[in-house]
Amino acid sequence: MTLDSMFDAGSPKAETALTIRRPDDWHVHLRDGAMLKAVLPFTARQFARGIIMPNLVPPVVSVADAASYRQRILEARGADSDFQPLMTCYLTDHTSPNEIERGFAEKVWVAAKLYPAGATTNAHFGVTDIPALAPVLARMEKIGMPVLIHGEATDPAIDIFDREAAFMEAELIPLLKRHEGLKVVVEHATTAETLDIVREHRRHCAATITPHHLIINRTSIFQGGLRPHLYCLPVAKRERHRLALRKAVTSGDSCFFIGTDTAPHVRGKKEAECCSAGVFGGATALQTYIEVFDEAGALDRFEAFASENGARFYGLPLNSGTLTLHKRPDRVAVSVPVEDEEVVIFRGNEPLAWSLGEIRR
Ligand code: DOR
Ligand code: ZN
Repeated sequence: MTLDSMFDAGSPKAETALTIRRPDDWHVHLRDGAMLKAVLPFTARQFARGIIMPNLVPPVVSVADAASYRQRILEARGADSDFQPLMTCYLTDHTSPNEIERGFAEKVWVAAKLYPAGATTNAHFGVTDIPALAPVLARMEKIGMPVLIHGEATDPAIDIFDREAAFMEAELIPLLKRHEGLKVVVEHATTAETLDIVREHRRHCAATITPHHLIINRTSIFQGGLRPHLYCLPVAKRERHRLALRKAVTSGDSCFFIGTDTAPHVRGKKEAECCSAGVFGGATALQTYIEVFDEAGALDRFEAFASENGARFYGLPLNSGTLTLHKRPDRVAVSVPVEDEEVVIFRGNEPLAWSLGEIRR
């Protein structure tokens, strides 16, 4: 990692540039079809690899599903891109340990995603009884394949702001105890208490943290009126949790890494009577993360969070090549067109302090 402070000829202003090993996004929703083509360039511009979420309709449950989805992503990425999709399998009540092992052995997928049934977008085929998944998780433990968990309770009687905490106590902690050798990624952690649980089990547990949960708290969703484009699951929590997330990522702690959870939905699905959950953060993710590190005086810790911790946890090689980010004001478009609709970009048309620079392969 190199940090350069340069004086532009004729300009009295110092410009800082940070060059890091190329980063990865360990949690991406790319969707399919026209949406895939529209959003993939943003992820591919920022990241060398991405863990591709399997919550398509229908979900990616078989080795064949994952192989053909991977092929569609490769076709959509364009000839000049080297973006590598890392595929995942969607766990259901009917997942077979043998199919899981076959996809992993054939290097079609690198992990499996556990959605509690009904927890979020396209999670209705998810798992209804997590302890009953033990044979699948035991096989994953044996072969070293990580499980990626959407950690929210699904009982509609539980307050939505408490669903992550309820899941951690009722499901995650017992699961971590039942499977002490299983690699577990707690996806999009949103509470201070979740971070503590992850740290405590760091020997086999890690967490991704999104850019939007570092920027917004639950009040942001209601600031001046209802803001559907800030609604996602898990929903943003109180300010104290946002501050704990910022502290966790900028601490340099190796059990936390990037997972943008970029989750595009067209404007019509967001500005609707029943708004879909998801923030499209893919176009401003690195600019947002680096701003958080800069504000914390922790730029020296950014590379580990962006480019090392995740790969090490998954047991994958670090990327070669570099990406440079410049402390230079930037602004991205407000939205991206998808056929005759559009997807609103998180922090689109807002002043960003950092901009993306050169990629060296
Ligand atoms: O807000 C969310 N959107 N959370 C999820 O877990 C799923 C995602 C999506 O696929 O839209
Ligand atoms: Zn997600």
